[in-house]
Amino acid sequence: MKVINKPEELQKIIEELKKEGKNVGFVPTMGALHLGHVSLIKKSVLQNDITVVSVYVNPIQFGPNEDYEKYPRPIEKDIKVCQDNKVDFLFLPTNETLYNKNFSTYIYNNNVSKIMCGITRPTHFQGVCTIVAKLFNIVMPQRAYFGLKDYQQYIIIKQMVEDLNFNIEIVGCPIVREESGIAMSSRNTYLSKEEKVQATGIYKSLCLAKQLFCEGKEIEDIKQVVEENSLKIPNSKIDYIEIRNSKNLQEVTDLDKNIVIAVAVKVGNVRLIDNMVCEK
Ligand code: PAJ
Repeated sequence: MKVINKPEELQKIIEELKKEGKNVGFVPTMGALHLGHVSLIKKSVLQNDITVVSVYVNPIQFGPNEDYEKYPRPIEKDIKVCQDNKVDFLFLPTNETLYNKNFSTYIYNNNVSKIMCGITRPTHFQGVCTIVAKLFNIVMPQRAYFGLKDYQQYIIIKQMVEDLNFNIEIVGCPIVREESGIAMSSRNTYLSKEEKVQATGIYKSLCLAKQLFCEGKEIEDIKQVVEENSLKIPNSKIDYIEIRNSKNLQEVTDLDKNIVIAVAVKVGNVRLIDNMVCEK
C-alpha cells in the first residue's frame, strides 16, 4: 500500500492506472476506521482493480461548536486497517493542500440539505458536497462507496453526481452494527459505557417502527411510537424523528411503499444518527 499526501501526485498515478485500463474504487472517510468503514473497503476491493481510501477530517463540514478539534485521529491504526484490507492507495491530504487561502468555491444542495440533519447543521452538507467533489476530481474513481448509516449524505451525494454529471457509480452499503444493535460510528468512542447501553434504545425503537410499518400502521402512529420509545432513553434529547421516502427523502403518505425512518438523538452530549429502510 502506498500512502500519498499530495493531490497532484495521486491524480498522476490514477491517470496512469486508467491508461492501463484499471478500474478504480474509492472510499472517502474521516478515519478512526471501524468495521463499518471496513465493509465499504472490502466491497471496493472485491469490485475494482484498485482501491483508494482517503482519511481526512474535513474542517468545512463541522459547525463552529462541533467536534472538529476533538474528532479522533488514530492515524497509525488507520494505516494498519487499510494495509490489512488490501487498500492500494491511502490518501492523507492536509488542510493546506486542499484549502489554500484563496479557496472560495462551494457546492450546495438546495433541497435535501435543508431538512433533517440540515436543520441543526446548516452548513454541514455544503462542506460534505464540496470535499467529496474535490476528492472525486482527485481520485477520478469509477465507483465510490458510501454507508447507508449516513442516509441523508448518501442521497445528497447521489443527487450531486447526477446534477453535476460526475461519471461515478455511487454504491450504497448496509449499516454495520455492534452486537448490541448500535450503529458503528467513529463518534461512539465519545460514549461512556452506560451511554452505550442506553443508546441501544435507538435501534430497538427503529426495529419496532419497522414492524409497525410492515403491519400497515399509519405513518403518524409509527412516528409517535418511535418518539415515545426514544424519550425513554435516560439522559437523551431527540433532535428529529422523520419518516420519509427512501428514494428522495421527500414527505410520505400512508400509501408510500418505500420509506426510511431516520432519527438523530443526543445521548448525554453525543449526537447519534441512525435509520432503517422499510420496503413493502
Ligand atoms: P465518515 O463518518 O468517516 O464515514 C465514511 C463512510 O463510512 C461514510 O460513507 C459512512 O456512511 C460510512 N459508515 C460509517 N459508519 C458506518 C456503519 N456503521 N455502517 C456502514 N457504513 C458506515 O461520512 C464521512 O466520513 C464524511 O462525511 C465524508 C463522506 C468522508 C466526507 O468528509
